[in-house]
Amino acid sequence: MSDTRDMTTVRALRWLDSQDSPAIEVLDQTRLPAVETVLTCTDVPQLVDAIKRLAVRGAPLLGVAGAYGVALAAARGDDVPAAAAALSGARPTAVNLAWGVGRALAAWRTTVERTGPVPGINTAAQAALAEAKAIAEADAAASAAMAEHGMELVGPGARILTHCNTGSLVSAGEGTAFAVILAAQRAGRLAKLWIDETRPLLQGARLTAWEARRAGIDHAILADSAAASLLASGQVDLVLTGADRIAADGSVANKVGTYGLAVLARRHDVPFVVVAPVSTVDLSTQDGAGIEVEFRAGEEVASLAGHPVAPAGTQAWNPAFDVTPPSLITAIVTERGLIKPVTAGNLQRLRAGAEDSTGPQPARYVER
Ligand code: MRU
Repeated sequence: MSDTRDMTTVRALRWLDSQDSPAIEVLDQTRLPAVETVLTCTDVPQLVDAIKRLAVRGAPLLGVAGAYGVALAAARGDDVPAAAAALSGARPTAVNLAWGVGRALAAWRTTVERTGPVPGINTAAQAALAEAKAIAEADAAASAAMAEHGMELVGPGARILTHCNTGSLVSAGEGTAFAVILAAQRAGRLAKLWIDETRPLLQGARLTAWEARRAGIDHAILADSAAASLLASGQVDLVLTGADRIAADGSVANKVGTYGLAVLARRHDVPFVVVAPVSTVDLSTQDGAGIEVEFRAGEEVASLAGHPVAPAGTQAWNPAFDVTPPSLITAIVTERGLIKPVTAGNLQRLRAGAEDSTGPQPARYVER
């Protein structure tokens, strides 16, 4: 992963290049903001565990982590297809994970088929690693391009409300929605960043506030349930979120609470904009109903920062994501341009352009 980022960004994941004992280092996001500590994953089960516990998380970074996981299995001489299956299944909603795993696995498999399993094993591991590095580099470049396109939607003195965590903790670059926020800050256009705390695991309060502080952004956190009155008070000009999967009809799965924000934004005539790389667009999922939403342990709701907040044994309903229909989304910002309005046709054109690298590359998908 290239490391050209400044002090406002962090290195969330790193490949440790050692022929004897390759490993993947991840910043343990479960410990932030109190403790900055690195987890070293020397095999795929450790990485799968880190992904399941959300030590490493966020859609684009999951794609990078999954690809490096395949490279790790290949470098160790493990059963690569089995490792890939374990990685892909670790979290079902963020499509980037299966996508990153699939790309590295394809690179490995093609090389094994070409060179034969015995002499080709090291070459195939190198091919998987090269693919993982390419994914990380492309993700960093995508962040920068999303920031540029997203700025088209940010006016002077913008007061932006965001949900969950979308900065360099989830990316090899500056992230998705947070990359736009950083660009707005650098351009002097950001007046205030409002951050939903993002229950149950507090990615907003713990992680986004941490990133905002490092970037010197004027920010405040709020309880998710306070977003309604904040929007009603007229103190928000734009809602910006990321995405974990975008279906063919433009439905967006993102951290639970996003759908509620989109409803509120529409009620108060505030643009609701999603920022995500093209790798988050999944045309094989027809619509929102087809998106598998990850359900997590009820104790994440029944406790707060490890302390019980409900009587022992209380049941809890804990979907990690919800789905926002395209009719509530003003625009989707990708590295290849702006999708506005969010329609199946515009999404298809975006994917077709992304896959045809030989033809002219349209920079935007805006129907007027
Ligand atoms: O459960 P998490 O913390 O992995 O959820 C992350 C989000 O929902 C992000 O908003 C999303 O991945 C989009 S941008 C990184």
